[in-house]
Amino acid sequence: MTRLGIGLVSAGWMGKLHTRAYQAVPVLYPELGLRTQLVHAADSAPDRATYARDVLGYQKTGLDYQDVLADPDVDVVSICAPNHLHAEMGVAAARAGKPFWIEKPVGRNAGETADIATAVRTAGLETSIGYNYRGAPPVERMRDLVSSGELGRVTNVRSVFFNSYASEPNGALSWRFKRAYAGAGALGDLLSHVVDLVQYVVGPVGEVLSQLATFYPERPVLPMGSGTHFAVIEGGEMAPVENEDYAAALVRFAPGAHTEGTVGTLEASRIIVGPQCGLALEVYGTEGSATWNFEQMNELRLCLGRGGPNTGYTTVLANVAMGEYGRFQPGPGNAMGYDDLKVIEAKKFLVALGGGKRRNSTIYEALADAEVLAAAAASAEDGQWHKVTRVPDATFGRAAGGGGARD
Ligand SMILES: NC(=O)c1ccc[n+]([C@@H]2O[C@H](COP(=O)([O-])OP(=O)(O)OC[C@H]3O[C@@H](n4cnc5c(N)ncnc54)[C@H](O)[C@@H]3O)[C@@H](O)[C@H]2O)c1
Repeated sequence: MTRLGIGLVSAGWMGKLHTRAYQAVPVLYPELGLRTQLVHAADSAPDRATYARDVLGYQKTGLDYQDVLADPDVDVVSICAPNHLHAEMGVAAARAGKPFWIEKPVGRNAGETADIATAVRTAGLETSIGYNYRGAPPVERMRDLVSSGELGRVTNVRSVFFNSYASEPNGALSWRFKRAYAGAGALGDLLSHVVDLVQYVVGPVGEVLSQLATFYPERPVLPMGSGTHFAVIEGGEMAPVENEDYAAALVRFAPGAHTEGTVGTLEASRIIVGPQCGLALEVYGTEGSATWNFEQMNELRLCLGRGGPNTGYTTVLANVAMGEYGRFQPGPGNAMGYDDLKVIEAKKFLVALGGGKRRNSTIYEALADAEVLAAAAASAEDGQWHKVTRVPDATFGRAAGGGGARD
């Protein structure tokens, strides 16, 4: 039995979910022989640090994340702070020799993601990134359908993240709306998930043409470490929104085994009225197509071939043949949820850390996603197509040569 001491930096929404995920791994994957122990947590908000001790159950808690990194009983660290702290904390964790699981988008821009990647490379550490939607069983099945060639040559891809968290005009001005804290708006917060998903399922994005838009110029202020970005504040002090509510990109994928000439459209909005957490992926190929939306996380809509008595889409429920479903539920119709995706992420991280198969998202893949977002931001400025800087170590779990097989 291997004991792993867990360190946590920031006990907000993601900090809570990472903690639950570490606790669930030994239960759902007993063959790994792991015992996770909640050792040390830090949050600069005193009530969150207290919560980490009294409710989450960390043995030691405090306000300074450096104490977590310096703790010899901590074997792995989760970094769940707002984006402006990712670079400082990621580099510090690497220098402290602590493998870490860090939330997306990993810094405010590609330069910050690159700084973390350099520190990780120097330290030779394992990493994991909060791109949880990869683990949804239908998404894993879509990836298999693409890499096996069952969909044929992929002609076009549509993916959106339509999230309603800021759809109220008096929705709180949390750190997500400030450039100094978040960097980009919908581009970094939401389109990052879209970009990661299409690069994971289909292949590398090669070029982008983008546009951004902001619809609500001011919002009521929410202090750091209080409430959530879903909060609505009536009559509060107003301050400017500094980043975009909406981001869109036309993309051309790099040529690969099944992606010759593949094009796509990617969109994200944080102010949409209607969809709530509508992360959708549609992959169209010459031999079939597959579509999925997180709001129906356990359902894949699939059409293979043309004609016949069952022409059109069939809904396939998540089942034990899809991804990690069988670890969570015994049979179809029993739904998995958002938090389960974090457990899958934790499991992939800890397996890679223990020398097993590398199915985790890595800092190099986070950098490849950040490079697509950087090209999109530049394109939104000048209205031109921009090529995406390739990151050679970003394999997205594919064997060298781009054939799509897993290593
Ligand atoms: N993977 C996903 O689907 C997903 C979803 C939500 C958020 N995120 C990402 O997770 C990160 C955190 O988001 P959240 O929603 O949990 O935010 P949150 O606002 O709920 O929590 C952030 C926490 O960080 C703490 N903090 C601020 N400064 C700190 C410091 N100097 N040291 C230690 N703690 C500090 C705050 O007090 C707060 O408790 C962001 O990067 C965000 O983009 C990812």
